[in-house]
Amino acid sequence: MLNNKIIENIRVNFENELKSVDKLQLLEDLRIKYLSRNGQISALFEQLKDVSKEEKPLIGKSLNDLRNVAANLFSDLKAKLETTDTNKLPKIDLTLPGNKYAIGSKHILTQTLDEIKSIFKGLGFSVNEGPELESDYNNFGALNFAPDHPARDMQDTFFISKDFLLRTHTSPVQIRVMENNKPPVRVIMPGRVYRNEAVSSRSYCMFHQVEGLYVDTDVTFTELKGTLVSFAKQFYGSDLKYRFRPSFFPFTEPSAEMDITCYICKGKGCKICKHSGWLEILGCGMVDPNVFGFVDYDPEKVSGYAFGMGIERTAMLKYGITDIRAFFENDFRFLKQF
Ligand code: DAH
Repeated sequence: MLNNKIIENIRVNFENELKSVDKLQLLEDLRIKYLSRNGQISALFEQLKDVSKEEKPLIGKSLNDLRNVAANLFSDLKAKLETTDTNKLPKIDLTLPGNKYAIGSKHILTQTLDEIKSIFKGLGFSVNEGPELESDYNNFGALNFAPDHPARDMQDTFFISKDFLLRTHTSPVQIRVMENNKPPVRVIMPGRVYRNEAVSSRSYCMFHQVEGLYVDTDVTFTELKGTLVSFAKQFYGSDLKYRFRPSFFPFTEPSAEMDITCYICKGKGCKICKHSGWLEILGCGMVDPNVFGFVDYDPEKVSGYAFGMGIERTAMLKYGITDIRAFFENDFRFLKQF
């Protein structure tokens, strides 16, 4: 017959067994053994109906106490094991090699520009940038282009409105720099430029240039040559041969173009250099006094030089790339080589 001693025994057994439980699975076994519908505690409730009327209230209360105590002990231990049971925690094998992520790399144009920047920084130049949407005045007028200059033609220039356009070169940044700074200035100005040209292996409707400008008192053409030769030797190699040819740009006087010996034939003459042995790398010259007039610099007091080069062209010459479109097609097989 069910009595308090039996109930007490079950409680002691349950508590003893609980002490050795350190895994959720073992705890679940214990729950089934004692607390489930077919468990020992439920079985005791079954026996309650045989208990005499007088004893029923007392035994019933003891049984309820047992069930509550057991349920509480069970849920306390369950909460604890859920945070410590290693079978439940995500399994981590610290000896496995880590996940590999594909890391990107810099585009060849960015690498080329980084190299150009670092060479000119070493020569005392700082870096400045201007907008790609420019005024006709900055892109042409203030750079001494005559109103009827052919470069203004719709054939070459993407006009946005009568007075605004996508800059066709980085030279307008010269105007912005001089309008906003008193001399001396010594800056390079990289950026994107746009030309309304038929796309081919040699020309694209958008490309990049780096402009250079140095204005101070008594700046000479010799300094211009010295700076550009120093740049070319650092960039293309110290055994390089070079020459300056007279040229024309509206914003420089005198103007020149710089050539280096062809990297393919070393000057003997080949298809790339059109059998001349030379490759043109940049345009340059002494800042035209008219340009100083537009930016309120006194041409009697200051002089300066400017230069400009295409970054695609520079990279093509250095790495032997023969199609400018390769820079913009994002073909992995091309990009991965650099
Ligand atoms: N702006 C010229 C071009 O796009 C390049 C250039 C030539 C820039 C001579 C200069 C320079 O600063 O002095 O063809």
